[in-house]
Amino acid sequence: MAESLFIPENSSRKEIYDSLIPQIEALVSGEDDFIANLSNIAAALKQTFNFFWVGFYLRKNNQLVLGPFQGPIACTRIDFDKGVCGHAYTTQQTVLVPDVDAFPGHITCASESRSEIVLPAFDVNQEVFLVLDVDSDKLDDFHEEDREGLEKLMRIIEKLARTNY
Ligand code: SME
Repeated sequence: MAESLFIPENSSRKEIYDSLIPQIEALVSGEDDFIANLSNIAAALKQTFNFFWVGFYLRKNNQLVLGPFQGPIACTRIDFDKGVCGHAYTTQQTVLVPDVDAFPGHITCASESRSEIVLPAFDVNQEVFLVLDVDSDKLDDFHEEDREGLEKLMRIIEKLARTNY
């Protein structure tokens, strides 16, 4: 198991994702505990990009419930039709929010959060079973390279869940 991450310096965010994703894949491949793996994935994203908040909400009964995360304490439960997370859940799509104040229904867990991206992961029935929420304290901090990099990560998480969740 890789015990430290190599994070290229002076590189574009795309180059960093290209380096990071295979390292994360290696990090989680030897471990069959799903929650332990989500925890390290949240830590790897936080450590690499220093985002304000990185974490997972898992579908449990009829809500999204806080899972492994890195950053300040956060809302514990989110209804399926609430917030950016709920929007990603119900539309089954990645939601990119350049300015959280301009997103109707955005749930403010921390006032420092200015922009965010939320991505769904799908179970074998093609239903969303968790979302990854990444928040930045900078306006307009997420773009196509984040969507592409993080969507690759969601596919890795889906593979892990198929065998161990
Ligand atoms: N902002 C999210 C809620 C989760 S926290 O930001 C960690 C939302 O609107 O769904």
